[in-house]
Amino acid sequence: MIPPLIGKSQDIEHIRDIIHQTAGMGFHTVVYGESGVGKEVVVQNLHRSSPRRGNPLVKVNCAALPDSLLDSELFGHEKGSFTGAVKRQRGKFEVANGGVLFLDEIGEMSSKLQTRLLHVLEGGKFTPLGSEEEIGTDTWIITATNSCLEEKVKSGTFREDLYYRLNIIRIPIRPLRERPEDIPLLIDYYLGLYLSGIKKRNNHRPNQKNLKTLMAYPWPGNVRELQSVLRRFALTGDWDVVVRELPRQPELRSDFTADLPSYISPIIDEVLNAGHAASLASDTFSLKDITGEALAKIEREVIRHTLLKTCWNRRRASKLLDIAYYTLNRKISDLTITPPRYLQ
Ligand SMILES: Nc1ncnc2c1ncn2[C@@H]1O[C@H](COP(=O)(O)OP(=O)(O)OP(=O)(O)O)[C@@H](O)[C@H]1O
Ligand SMILES: [Mg+2]
Repeated sequence: MIPPLIGKSQDIEHIRDIIHQTAGMGFHTVVYGESGVGKEVVVQNLHRSSPRRGNPLVKVNCAALPDSLLDSELFGHEKGSFTGAVKRQRGKFEVANGGVLFLDEIGEMSSKLQTRLLHVLEGGKFTPLGSEEEIGTDTWIITATNSCLEEKVKSGTFREDLYYRLNIIRIPIRPLRERPEDIPLLIDYYLGLYLSGIKKRNNHRPNQKNLKTLMAYPWPGNVRELQSVLRRFALTGDWDVVVRELPRQPELRSDFTADLPSYISPIIDEVLNAGHAASLASDTFSLKDITGEALAKIEREVIRHTLLKTCWNRRRASKLLDIAYYTLNRKISDLTITPPRYLQ
């Protein structure tokens, strides 16, 4: 069963608007977000709201299969085209014709398959393995990823031309901890499902104190984790116990601080060179000005880098940077740091 997109936060309202406005267009779309945040629900709702709803929504997880299997999964193969190919298999591109092909975890696709996919997008045709016949395809491609595709483009692991082809509509979904106002609605909806048949389900809502704890909890597994907690409640019927047993959160650790110096050192070089140039140009130059400028540049770069790494998850970035959330927001505005296009 496809759930509706539950939530009343601005983010979810906005996503509902995007779905409403774009579902009819069939422009290739990328859905971004952490694991369990609702990427697949958004894809299902896009398909359901589109004129393609009568045709299949076909999902392929690009991270789940080795390259050669993924190739034949996507494009199909002829009987006898390799050992074990005992019969002809239709590729998902063929199956999804007229409908939607949902490529999950697109960021994990190998460069060889990225190239093959690009050719299909450019020509609207593909050739199954072992076949000599080209097959035309009219599929709406919706992809999902929990990594920053832009970072991958920058580091050369994702083709830039493919990125632009796929990323016509972008739908970022914020983590649940950044939209806690959605939590009571999700609780009501999923408790309704898990306790179906039980009368007076409203009596099973958490009390104010427990709800407050649930809304402050960081939900690293997002809505999927909330669902597990609700299932646990459906079994035990005791919110106090369920809330007490929420896992304690280890401090969010930076897994990338080690590579910060490589980002900063070119800036330090740049500032020192500017200082050196200033010292040649005049007799006096202010130490305060030069170090001030250097610090501002470093600060800007570290913040920009951290935001990029967290896909502009400001709460997580502020934790990693060990500064208050509002301080981060102020610095973002003071230092005029803007998100990359796909997150705007
Ligand atoms: N806004 C929402 N309204 C209703 N259900 C939701 C919402 N967001 C998530 N869910 C539910 O939470 C579960 C996890 O969501 P989903 O599978 O879409 O996450 P995902 O982002 O695709 O995760 P992953 O990256 O692990 O594949 C699903 O059962 C989904 O129905
Ligand atoms: Mg998913």
